[in-house]
Amino acid sequence: MSVRTYNIATIPGDGIGVEVTEAAVQVLEKLAATVGSFKFDLEYYDWSSKKYKERGWYVPPDGIKELKKHDAIYFGAVGWPGPDVPDHISLWSLILPIRKAMGQYVNVRPTRILPGTKSPLSQCERSPKDLDWVIIRENSEGEYAGQGGTTHENTPHAVATEVAIFTRTGIERIMRFAFETARSRPRKLLTMVTKSNAQRHGMVLWDTVFYEVAKDYPDVTWDRMLVDAMTVRMVNRPQSMDTIVATNLHADILSDLASALGGSIGNAPSSNLNPTRECPSMFESISGSAPDIAGKGVANPIGAIWSAIEMVRWVGKGSLESVADGAMKAMESVATAGIRTRDLGGSNNTKEVTDAICSEIEKTLGDAVLDGLLVDHKA
Ligand code: NAI
Ligand code: MG
Repeated sequence: MSVRTYNIATIPGDGIGVEVTEAAVQVLEKLAATVGSFKFDLEYYDWSSKKYKERGWYVPPDGIKELKKHDAIYFGAVGWPGPDVPDHISLWSLILPIRKAMGQYVNVRPTRILPGTKSPLSQCERSPKDLDWVIIRENSEGEYAGQGGTTHENTPHAVATEVAIFTRTGIERIMRFAFETARSRPRKLLTMVTKSNAQRHGMVLWDTVFYEVAKDYPDVTWDRMLVDAMTVRMVNRPQSMDTIVATNLHADILSDLASALGGSIGNAPSSNLNPTRECPSMFESISGSAPDIAGKGVANPIGAIWSAIEMVRWVGKGSLESVADGAMKAMESVATAGIRTRDLGGSNNTKEVTDAICSEIEKTLGDAVLDGLLVDHKA
């Protein structure tokens, strides 16, 4: 049997980014060893805040060119707040430039309440099993376009602007991706998030292009929410939504809320996609470097492992669907068994959860390989 190698650029970054990347890599290696027809060649890049302090840069001048050689990028988290490195420096020196340079204009953020997981919604009459969303975040422009400036800095007359940029091209491509995602899911239901009542230029163009694109998807049912009211609906009527599309800033905020409703931010994955595949896509949990728990070995690895599973799905281009589905099932079995970190009310550490997922993969996927059940897998 020929073995397909996937080249992965791995950037663990800071804080728990390093710990959850280690967990994700352990799972990737277990998947490869169990299935046998593919493997991962991981190249590590130490572009952390600690290194930045020592040498004055995160990404070297040829860094982006270097990343482009890989099939995908796996990312931990960046940020070491406080006097060391201000957050806008770390974010704008590493993660945001990679997303932009690689044309990763879509950020896909699924949220589900995993089996056996306690959600704040469990206390309500509604059934938590009704929460199954995919948030599609515009990932290249909007409020994080990076345009603006400061004049008269450090004076009483300081002026700062932060300009949100919305382009017809940028809006149209994210709306098409959102409609395609909604169409691919059983409910074929899309909620568009906006704030065009108060933001009367960019957000009005956002709405206009949405309505135009909607005409091409008559089979998708859609509705529209103002972002403030959306927070209320997410809590009160979670079952009324499926696929959600929102701007860079709105989806950033709403997906943290979604992750908390799903049980913990530590459970939440994300895929930064370049749907054209001209450049590699990047996979990371949605959380930051969590300095408050870093170094203790207690970070929840689920979001990072789930992101790695989505990476397997993406690089496999349709050939690794059953491998990815099997890995998800293994992760869910471990959640059902109550093996969980303390953010989810458990007492297991990062390594125990990761080891349990690896054993489950070995058991269930190993059996599937023996029984010839990984039908879509072609090396
Ligand atoms: P954070 O997501 O790092 O942490 C928020 C809270 O969630 C903390 O209490 C943390 O302990 C908890 N948490 C996060 N991930 C967890 C996990 N896997 N398991 C258990 N608990 C978890 O957000 P925060 O504190 O606002 O930011 C910390 C740093 O991370 C900052 O420097 C920020 O700029 C950076 N950041 C980086 C991101 C990235 O690399 N894409 C995204 C968000 C923040
Ligand atoms: Mg965020």
